[in-house]
Order: sequence, then C-alpha cells, then structure tokens
Amino acid sequence: MSRSAHPAGPRHADVLPEGHPSAPPADLNALDGKVWASTVTRTPDGVVTVGGIEVTTLAEEFGTPAYFLDETDFRERARAWRTAFGPDADVFYAGKAFLSRAVVRWLHDEGLNLDVCSGGELTTALSAGMPADRIAFHGNNKSVEEIETAIRAGVGRIVLDSFQEIVRVAHIAQSLGKRQRVQIRITVGVEAHTHEFIATAHEDQKFGIPLAGGQAAEAVRRALQLDGLELIGIHSHIGSQIFDMSGFEVAAHRVVGLLKGIRDEHGVELPEIDLGGGLGIAYTSDDDPREPHEIAKALTEIVSRECETARLRTPRISVEPGRAIVGPTAFTLYEVGTIKPLDGLRTYVSVDGGMSDNIRTALYDAEYSVALVSRTSEAAPMLVRVVGKHCESGDIVVKDAFLPADLAPGDLIAVPATGAYCRSMASNYNHALRPPVVAVREGEARVIVRRETEEDLLRLDVG
Ligand code: LLP
Repeated sequence: MSRSAHPAGPRHADVLPEGHPSAPPADLNALDGKVWASTVTRTPDGVVTVGGIEVTTLAEEFGTPAYFLDETDFRERARAWRTAFGPDADVFYAGKAFLSRAVVRWLHDEGLNLDVCSGGELTTALSAGMPADRIAFHGNNKSVEEIETAIRAGVGRIVLDSFQEIVRVAHIAQSLGKRQRVQIRITVGVEAHTHEFIATAHEDQKFGIPLAGGQAAEAVRRALQLDGLELIGIHSHIGSQIFDMSGFEVAAHRVVGLLKGIRDEHGVELPEIDLGGGLGIAYTSDDDPREPHEIAKALTEIVSRECETARLRTPRISVEPGRAIVGPTAFTLYEVGTIKPLDGLRTYVSVDGGMSDNIRTALYDAEYSVALVSRTSEAAPMLVRVVGKHCESGDIVVKDAFLPADLAPGDLIAVPATGAYCRSMASNYNHALRPPVVAVREGEARVIVRRETEEDLLRLDVG
C-alpha cells in the first residue's frame, strides 16, 4: 500500500536478492522524523525514547510486543487537522484506524468528530463521552439493532450505503418518532491508492451507490420522499494511503455535479459534502505525505471552484482521516528471538509478535521500516526480513530492511507508523495474545488497551 517501487539505489554488495533495489541508509542509527512519532528520539547513550521514556524501561514495565502511542503527537496531529479545516468544516476521525476510550477523549478535547462503522465502535465512543451528535455512523450492512441504537443515541448522521438501507433507516427512525440526519454514500468512479488514481470503472465494489446510470440520483429522489430522513449531504470516499490530490479533484467534480442535478430537479441545495479519508502517511523514508493545511487548502479550493462553476452555494465540507492522524503516532516494540542467515538470500529475524499484531504486510504487501532501538551499533548493515512467530510462511512484518549485522537475540527493535490498522486489525491467530497499547506522554506511560491474557482466551471458549 506504500509506494509500489523504491527509487532505484545502488545495489548493496551482492547480498541483495533480485528485485530489491534499495540501498542501506547512510546511518542505521538515525531515526527519520518522517516515520517516527514526534517525541521519539535517541539519547546520547543510544537508547530510543518516546515521551521521554526509554524503550528499555517500557519493555521492562509493559513487555513486548507492545504498541507505544505518543499521545502528544496524536493530539498535535488531531489539532493540526482541526485547525487546518477551521470552523466551517468538520473533521471526523475514522475510528476503524484505531479506537479506544482514551482516544475518544483526546478527540473530544481537540474538537474532532468521530466516524464509527459498527455497534462496537459506537458503544466505545458513547461510553467515553463523545456527544452523539458528533458521531457519523457508517457501514455497508448495518444491522437493524445497530441502526436503532444509533438513532436512539442521536447520532449526528447515518451514512446510507444502499437502497435497502434508505428504507430501513427511514422506517426505524419513523417508528422511533425521529427524523434522522443522513448522507448518501456514492461511488464516483474514482479509485485512488498511494500515488495513483484511476478515474473510471471502479464502481465494482461493495460500498456506496454508483453515480453511474443515475443510481445515486434515484437514491436521492427516494431519500427526499421519506419522512424519517433529513438528507443533509453526499458522501464519497475514494481509497487509502493517497498522496495524489487529483483523485479528490475528480471526485469533488462528480459529487458537485450530482448536487447541481439535485438542485435542478428538486430545488434543494444539500448543505454538506463529505470527501472521506484516505490521506497517506510515511511508512518508509520514500513516502512524502502532505501536511493537513495543504490538504485542507487543496480540498476547500477544489470544492469552492466546482461549486462556483455550478452556481451552487459551497456546502460545508467534512473529511474522515484515520491513518493520517493515528498512523504515525505509534510504533510496535518487539524483542528479537532468533536470527537465521540464509546464504546468498537474506537474514530472517524472528520477533515475539507478527501477523497477529500487524497483518498489513501479509495482506497488502505493505512496506514498513524498522530500527534497532535498545542500543546503537556501528556494525555493517545486514539485509533482513523481520518475521513473526506464527505458523505461516507469509508471517512477515517487514519485508526488506537493513539492521546492523551484530543484531542479537534480546535486542529490541521497533517498527514505526503502526498506529493505524495494526491493533485494530489484530487477531488471535495461533491463540496469540493481542498486545497492549500504551500511551506515553511527558514522562508518563499508561496502558490504554491492556494486553490479552490466556484467561481472556479461555473465557470465550465455553465448549
Ligand atoms: N472514511 C471511510 C468511509 C472509510 O471507508 C475509511 C477507510 C476512512 C474514512 C479512513 O481512511 P484512512 O484515512 O484511515 O485511510 N485496512 C486498510 C485500510 C482500510 C480503510 C477502510 N476505510 C489498511 O490497513 O490500509
């Protein structure tokens, strides 16, 4: 999901297997600020710290593997998005990237709204005090129970994803004596990933109602007729890990085209437009993400320009960044267990976690970086593949990276940029115990999601 190819670099001796073009970094001890959380630094004695606490101390206190989340960085990023979009727009943090009650409270403090896509996420949000009217409820197959809970709670919006759901939500709202604010999620025929986007023929997916063939216009027609619904806007989400803004440009153009059609047909100007999430982050030094203020400026300009051309009032914009807020704020800390050099190929470094705490490499061929963090080393770079302890050969955490050749069992290594879609997609494969998330801030570390225990596993096994 990160760049599909590295920029070409000199081949490193003869140890690089075919197809690996990257050269080792000039300094293996350096920590690239692009991929590490903002308070991460290396002390003069060589140990890496986050929030002022050494990783060796953290490992002793909380064990490994564990995710360490830099609360200061999280709050700064959340605030940067909030400030960049200003009071005339809304930022909904996408809880699927990582959600816990502490995170909900930080978001609340920093003035962000929240996008949830399941009853579980909704319960977490409400139980941590997020006001319901700041919650958007997503999903392509929300259950009747989930819809009822959301409407009863008073969520700010439900994002409708199908013709059946338009009727279902209207019916439930009416039976509860309510009028629910809704958006309709449409697919605009744009799919964007990383540095590329494709502007046609991507309606072939389970989310949203296609703009093509007049389906979205028909959905709007039906929603406007139903008493249980207050249609407030149109929603579009075009992909993940996006760096290229031109996909948003095409999406905004098409959404505004629909708004214009609605105005012409119904005499109604819908007041909101949601452009979804999907903004990219740096997983490796090769990735160059944009700053929130650049993104806000670009999106606001695109929508205003399109509306001006269509002679529409500019609607209130909302966005749903998940990865771009939480992704860079955490790293996963592992202890090295075994080191297996395979002549002429590479060295396999096995850690005490794996695909159960980071499925993204196996699932998406995602690229990550890794560093030795319990000490520095002046040893030569060694090409490694960091693998987990699961019974699966695809159990890879970092496909290709360089670590010092004197790496030894017991060393601590860390994989940065694991704040998004790692703990939230973690599994119990091989009955692994999902790692804790520890928030670190100004010299204090506290568990916000505790480590699973064998009792947790056995408690579910009631046979
Ligand atoms: N809004 C909607 C409607 C979405 O479907 C998503 C992500 C987001 C916002 C947040 O996207 P973000 O800003 O975090 O990229 N598991 C995959 C990502 C799946 C994203 C699904 N939807 C991964 O690990 O890359």
